[in-house]
Amino acid sequence: MEKTSKKRKKTFTRRAFLKGLGGSAAGTALASKFLRRGLAAPPQEMEAAPVHSQKTVTFSVNGRTVSLEVEPRETLLDVLRQKLNLTGTKKTCDRGECGSCTVLLDGQPVYSCLYPAIRVEGKTVTTIEGLAYGDELHPVQQAFIDKDGYQCGFCTPGFIMSSVALLNRNQKPTFPEIKTALSGNLCRCGNYVKIYEAVRTASERMRKA
Ligand code: FES
Ligand code: FES
Repeated sequence: MEKTSKKRKKTFTRRAFLKGLGGSAAGTALASKFLRRGLAAPPQEMEAAPVHSQKTVTFSVNGRTVSLEVEPRETLLDVLRQKLNLTGTKKTCDRGECGSCTVLLDGQPVYSCLYPAIRVEGKTVTTIEGLAYGDELHPVQQAFIDKDGYQCGFCTPGFIMSSVALLNRNQKPTFPEIKTALSGNLCRCGNYVKIYEAVRTASERMRKA
């Protein structure tokens, strides 16, 4: 009895093996046909895939006029970092939650990770690289250094850009106004007290200058 069951098991296994072998052989043949086709010409389904349309946009970045091709899916952040090599603007969450990608667009702070590059036509962009006057840092940059307004520094460019936007429209912000203006920026190191102090210091220095 036991012998028969063992025999059955053996037969089943061999059949399954042969079946599997047939399947893989067919699979291999198909794959190699596909690969051969792929080398010679793209498969039909790839030929039918939509080609992303490119558009030329012209805008000003840190006082320089640039013209480049962008796709509708590209963000201003990616264009700044990857096509213009302006890597001071940081990509952290890449979905509008942290503010590390903040730049000024016509003077207003925006999350560049959410802003379609295709919409930047004719606008003026200022990034952290565009704040200093030659070797002289912007007062907000200098105050962040003097007051230890950073730890790891990853959030710092975004905080500085939001602070510059605030001080450009309000030279003497109150503490609540500073907190509100920077509420769209997150610091994972929790350095908020020193960041607020840096903004207050920059505000004083800018008024005296
Ligand atoms: S990277 Fe843009 S908001 Fe976080
Ligand atoms: S200094 Fe590290 S996230 Fe703000």
